[in-house]
Amino acid sequence: MAVREIEILGSEVLRTPALEVEAFDEGLRGLVRDMFETMYRAEGVGLAGPQVGVSRRVVVLDVAAAEDEESEGPRRFALVNPVVVEASSSTDRAPEGCLSIPGMSEVVMRPSEVLVTGADPEGAPLEIRARGFLARALQHEIDHLDGVLFIDHLSPLKRRMLLRKWRKRQEEEAAEVQG
Ligand code: NI
Repeated sequence: MAVREIEILGSEVLRTPALEVEAFDEGLRGLVRDMFETMYRAEGVGLAGPQVGVSRRVVVLDVAAAEDEESEGPRRFALVNPVVVEASSSTDRAPEGCLSIPGMSEVVMRPSEVLVTGADPEGAPLEIRARGFLARALQHEIDHLDGVLFIDHLSPLKRRMLLRKWRKRQEEEAAEVQG
């Protein structure tokens, strides 16, 4: 197992639609193990392939730490080739952040319930009906597989403000490293 480097906003792989996984082999399972380890090290609740520079449709989630009464469904799992097959017309608004845009968070509106299908790392079909925090986390991670980030769901104004803050923070960090 190994912790992998997390790609940060600006990296092209984050904006590239990921490819379907075709081989449910040891390579895939090694990737999944590394993704869990990387996610735990970064104290995240979800991670998608492109975030570790692997443009493949794989996500890992562990929402056990973010327990909320609204959530339904499994807590810790890997999902390969996930697809949102149903999304509720009802929506929720809640703050989101992303390991690829560290330090930034903003309220995002999303469908409150989803039905997601996919496979586990062995290739067995999975179907997950989720609501609450899990539904949000799943949508966030599946977005990553299409090159979409949570900031893309914001109004143009909110997005501009967040990006301005982000750039300022990056410049400050760069200055600290030089100094
Ligand atoms: Ni993210």
